[in-house]
Formats: sequence, structure tokens, C-alpha cells
Amino acid sequence: MSNKMWGGRFAAGPDAIMEEINASIGYDKRFFRQDIAGSIAHANMLAKTGIISKADRDAIVAGLTELREELEQNRFKFSRALEDIHMNIESALRDRIGEAAARLHTARSRNDQVATDFRLYVRDSVDHLMEQITQLQTALLQRAENEHDTIMPGFTHLQSAQPVTLGHHLLAYVEMLSRDYHRFKDARKRINVCPLGAAALAGTGFPIDRDMTARELGFDRPASNSLDAVSDRDFVLETMGAASICAMHLSRLAEELVIWSTPQFGFATLSDGFSTGSSIMPQKRNPDAAELIRAKIGRIFGAQVAMTMVMKGLPLTYSKDMQEDKEGAFDALDSLSLSLAAMTGMMQDLSFNRAAMRAAAGSGFSTATDLADWLVRTLKMPFRNAHHVTGEIVALAERQGVALNELSLEQLQSVEPGITEDVFNVLSVENSVASRTSFGGTAPENVRAQIARWRNLLES
Ligand code: ARG
Repeated sequence: MSNKMWGGRFAAGPDAIMEEINASIGYDKRFFRQDIAGSIAHANMLAKTGIISKADRDAIVAGLTELREELEQNRFKFSRALEDIHMNIESALRDRIGEAAARLHTARSRNDQVATDFRLYVRDSVDHLMEQITQLQTALLQRAENEHDTIMPGFTHLQSAQPVTLGHHLLAYVEMLSRDYHRFKDARKRINVCPLGAAALAGTGFPIDRDMTARELGFDRPASNSLDAVSDRDFVLETMGAASICAMHLSRLAEELVIWSTPQFGFATLSDGFSTGSSIMPQKRNPDAAELIRAKIGRIFGAQVAMTMVMKGLPLTYSKDMQEDKEGAFDALDSLSLSLAAMTGMMQDLSFNRAAMRAAAGSGFSTATDLADWLVRTLKMPFRNAHHVTGEIVALAERQGVALNELSLEQLQSVEPGITEDVFNVLSVENSVASRTSFGGTAPENVRAQIARWRNLLES
């Protein structure tokens, strides 16, 4: 049997393999809500402009509303022979209301229809992701508040560098997530342009009102070039670019949780709810959720790369290649959403081991920079010389097997005779942290001020 939607010039139906490679209903059924919203807006506009009758419009809107119920309740019977969500719904509408349904596709094509549906879908997803980002920021901020003066080692090269506060460390992720939020917000402006009415590619001779459909669907404006409107998938690429960067941030935080929760570090303990055991080793508490979040970037960035490859070299305008825009994007958006939810849960539930962090903060001669700074400030030594003197003192402490503040004054003076008792004021990790008051520095008073700033921003 030839296709009932476009079979006019076809004598026979498609080969089974053709049907299999061509059909997208298996995955585009997930935007039935957007498809129905787009069709209702289109029908309203066709009636308003006198292109179809009000009676037909009423029948179409009533029929689509009933179909939406059926779809919501999983009662709709999808047909692969009807290829995609657009033709499945239109065909079901025709079975339900007859003749009027056949007028719905006036001044429209699946090309502008699918572009419209997908923009609506991505817009909804982005709105949800932005809410989830705010929730994770709020969870991080809450933990930062309690840990504004908790001392931990700060690392470069994953080697102890200088002591910092845990609150400061957590706020670094609040900053990253804020950039993610604004990347999505900015992408949303370019997502929110309406292709509907571009028709197949060239526009239409019917007196349609594109401002009306754009407005009804919550778009900022209609797309101004019909060729671009049906062939543009930048909004998918850009959203996945933002998603990739956000997933990369989550991956870094996840990696820190993996490291911190090892018995060797012991900085954090994940809750039972976010740990798993081993089937053979009874002592294990594995950070599986963190590991999976660390890995999700692979499929998210993979989807972005795959879609970029699909689009490159496509001549204007629509080509069926572009049907490949959906599965990767769906998977990427789902994966990021799940990662954000899991990270928020983990952050809310885990416990920090302040004693282990404090102990580690003092190891590795982490206040060596403070000693060098003291030599510069008090003895007016050029920083490079101070760096050298401090290096000798560190070597001495290492030979003696003690921390910097455990060396005697005599031992310090054996390297630099000008050193006085006063130096011990800067050699403790508490003093080191408290002294970092430069803007953006780790001093607890700075961290408190940053927390107050973020509270304001996140609550407004
Ligand atoms: N299922 C198609 C897609 O996802 C809808 C657009 C089909 N347009 C066409 N000219 N065959 O891209």
C-alpha cells in the first residue's frame, strides 16, 4: 500500500528496510506535546487569517486536544509506516475528525514543523536545566556556609600547594555553574526564534501571520529567512556546547569527590544513599554516582561532535540527514539533567572530615610561601632571594622530618640569621589562610562576603 500522507504519485509502499532507516517515530514521539502545541497555534492562525474556517479550526483544536490526552495516557497507537510524530498525529486526527484535519497542513511543511517542535523541546529542556543548575548552586552554597573557615590543602598538580578554606573551594564550583547558567540563558535567545511559516523552504503564498504563531508559542520573533529557518540546527549545537562545558565542570567535581572519599584522603564520606558496596570486598564503599557523572561528559560531548559532523557540508536547505539531530541531543540533555540531580543529592548528603582536611593542610610545607612573603615584608628581601632561602629551610625541615613551624628559631637562623620569633605567626595554616584577604582570596572573611553575595543572587 502506498503512503496515505504522500502516496499520490507512488504505486507501491516502501521496502521494509527503507521503512526502518527512514522512520523517526521511535524517538521523536517524545515531542508530541510540542507538535500539538505547534499545530494548535498554526490552526488558530489559519482561521484568524481566513485561510480555513472557524468551524474547521474548532474541530482541529478539539481533536488535537483529545489526542494529547490519549498520548499523555499512553493509549495512542504509533505506526512506523507513518514515519514520524508529525504524520502519526495528523493521520490520527484525520481518523477522528475527517476532512477538516486535511486542511491543517495548509501553508506548512514538516520542515518548518519539525524545526519548530525541536526548538520548543530544547527550550523546555534548557529551562529545566537552568533550574537544576540553581539547585546545585544552592546545595553547594549551603555547604560552603558551614565550611567557610574549614581549612584544607589547596592543590596545584594535585600536590599540596597552599592551605585554603573548604568554603572557598566549594564556591569555585558555584562560579563555574553560574557561567553554565548564563551560557544556557544566552543560547536560549537564539533558540527562541520561530521557524513556523517558512513552510518547505521558500515561504508560502497564503496570507499567513507569522508574528501571531510566534507569539502564541512563546517565541521572541519569527525567523526572518525561510531557507535558514528550516535548515538551521545551530540551536542544537549551541545547547550541546553549553551542556558539554557544564558536564565537564560536573566531571571535575565528581573526580574530586572520588579522590576525597578514598580512605587515603578521607576528606569526605558519601552517604549510604549515594554509595555502593562491592559483591566481593565487604569493606568497600564505592562512589559509583560520582564516577558515572565523571563519565557522562563522554556521551554529551560525543553528541555535540556527532551533530556537528552531520551538519557540515549539508547544502541548503533541509536534508534528511537532519533527522539525526534528535537522538544524540535527547540523550545528552537527559544525561546532563540526571548528572545535575545526582550531584545535588550527593552534595546535600555527604559529610566532610574536617580533622583529616586540617591535618593534610599542614603537610607538604604548605606555608612555605608565607615564610617567603615574611622574608620579603620584614627583611625587605627581593622575592626571588626569599624563595631561595625558603627552599633551603624546607630542605632542612625535610631532613629533620618536621613541619616548618616545628623547626627551632636557631635552626631557622642557621639558614637566615635575620629571622626572628615573629616568623612563627605566619607559619601556621590558620594564619596563612586568614592572611589571604586580597579580593577573591581564600580568607574566611572573604568567603563569608562571597557567600552573602551568592545568597542574594540565587534568591533573586
Ligand atoms: N522526521 C523528519 C525529521 O525529523 C521530519 C521532517 C521531514 N521532512 C521531509 N522533508 N522529509 O527531520
